[in-house]
Amino acid sequence: MDNPFNPGSGTAPPHFGGRNGDLHVFDRCVSKAKKGIMEGPMVLVAPRGQGKTVLLRRMVEKVMSDGGTVLELVPSEIPTPSALAVKLAHAVRSGEGLPIRRERRKKAKGGVPLLGGEMGDVTHMEMDMGSVAESLGKIGAGGMALLAVDEAHELPLDVGWCLLQGEQKARVQGTRLQTVFAGTPDLEPHFQKMRVTFWSRLHDRERRLQLLEGDDAVAAVACPLKDERGLDVDDALRQRIMSMTSGYPYFLQVLGASLWDAAPMDATAFAPDAVALAAKQFQVTKEFYYQKRVDELGDKGLLGAAFAVAAACETKGGALLRQQAQLACQAGKRLGVDDAQPLSPTSAQMVDGLTQQGFVWHGHPTNPRHLVPGIPSLMHYVRQYVAESLDDTADDALCRDEDFSRACRTSRSP
Ligand SMILES: Nc1ncnc2c1ncn2[C@@H]1O[C@H](COP(=O)(O)OP(=O)(O)O)[C@@H](O)[C@H]1O
Ligand SMILES: [Mg+2]
Repeated sequence: MDNPFNPGSGTAPPHFGGRNGDLHVFDRCVSKAKKGIMEGPMVLVAPRGQGKTVLLRRMVEKVMSDGGTVLELVPSEIPTPSALAVKLAHAVRSGEGLPIRRERRKKAKGGVPLLGGEMGDVTHMEMDMGSVAESLGKIGAGGMALLAVDEAHELPLDVGWCLLQGEQKARVQGTRLQTVFAGTPDLEPHFQKMRVTFWSRLHDRERRLQLLEGDDAVAAVACPLKDERGLDVDDALRQRIMSMTSGYPYFLQVLGASLWDAAPMDATAFAPDAVALAAKQFQVTKEFYYQKRVDELGDKGLLGAAFAVAAACETKGGALLRQQAQLACQAGKRLGVDDAQPLSPTSAQMVDGLTQQGFVWHGHPTNPRHLVPGIPSLMHYVRQYVAESLDDTADDALCRDEDFSRACRTSRSP
C-alpha cells in the first residue's frame, strides 16, 4: 500500500484538518455572490508550509463540484498586463485558460513612474485593465466563478494593479466573481505598492492561517493511519504528535509519513519501537528542513537578528511588538555572527526580512500588531545553532546588550 502522506509535494493531504473558520467565510462569500452580492476578494496569508495552497485547492474543488467556473492564475506565468489580458481573453473564448506565451517585459518609453518605482505605460495599462475587466465580466456572467491566485506575492506590480482594478470593475458591474489570493506575509506590503486600497476593507476576508490546533492537527495524522491501515493512535502518541509538530501542517505530513513507514503492515497499534523509529526519521527530516531555513537566513545576513528575536520572543512569552523586534534585531546584528553585508540593513529592514522568510509574522490570532513565530520550534533551533556552531558566548553578549534589554523590558508585554 502506498504511503498517502506526501509532504511538500503540493498534493492534497490524505486528511484535511481544520480551517473551518476560513472555509465558512469562503462559503458565505460564494453564497452571497450567487445572489448577486459580491463582497470582494479574500486573501489567505501565512508563511510557507502553513497550508495556503491546500486550502485554496479546497475552495477550487468546492466551486467546481457546485458547477461553477474556476480560473486559476499562476503569477510567474504572467509577466505583463497585456499577457494577463491575453490569458483572460483566451479563457473566455475557449472556456478554459490557455498557456500563454512568455512575453518579454517591454521597457516603457516615456511612461510615468508608477507602482512603487516600476515604469508603466498608463494608456496601455488602462486598456489592458479594461480588457481584463471585460473578460472577468464574461467569465462570471453565466454563473458563479472563482478566480484563484496562488503565490500572489509574486504578481508583478503592474499585473497585480490591472487584475485588482479589473476585478473590482467587473464586480461592481454585477459579475458573480469571487477572487481568492494566497501568499506569504509580504503579500500586504506588496499589494500596497500597487496603490490599491482594498486591503483595508477586507474585514474577516483577510485570513491569516494559524497552526492547526489540537484535534484538527492530530486528525491530519491519525485519520489516514486509522482509515487506511486500521492503526490506532493512543493518547500518548496524540500528545507526541502535537509536541513534535506544534500543529505546523508540513511537519504533520512528515510525521504521518514516518509513522506510516515505521509500523509493520500487520500492526493494529503503534509499538514503542515503531514510534521511536518514526520519531527518529521525523527528526532527521526536520533537521534538514531547519538547516535550509538557517542557510536562507544566513544568506540574507539575518542570522544574528533571528537569534536575538528568538531570544526576545522567548522572554516575552512568544510574541513581540514590532518595536521590540527592531531593538532585538539591532542587538543581534552586533553579535557579528553574519558575514558583512554590502549594505548594512536598518532594524526595520531586518524585521521585514525576517517576516519575508516567515521566521516571524503578524499572525497573532487576536492582535495584528504582534509578531509571532512562523514555526515556534525553528526559533529554538536557531538559538542552538548560533550558540553551538558560531558563537557560544552569543547568549551572554545578548544579555549585556542595552537594546536587547530594552526589547525585553518594554513595559507592556504583548
Ligand atoms: N489543513 C491541512 N490538513 C492537513 N495537512 C495540511 C493542511 N494544510 C496543509 N497541509 C499539508 O502541509 C503541507 C504544506 O501545505 P501547503 O498548502 O503546500 O502550504 P503553503 O502553500 O502555505 O506553503 C502539505 O504537505 C499539505 O498537504
Ligand atoms: Mg503554497
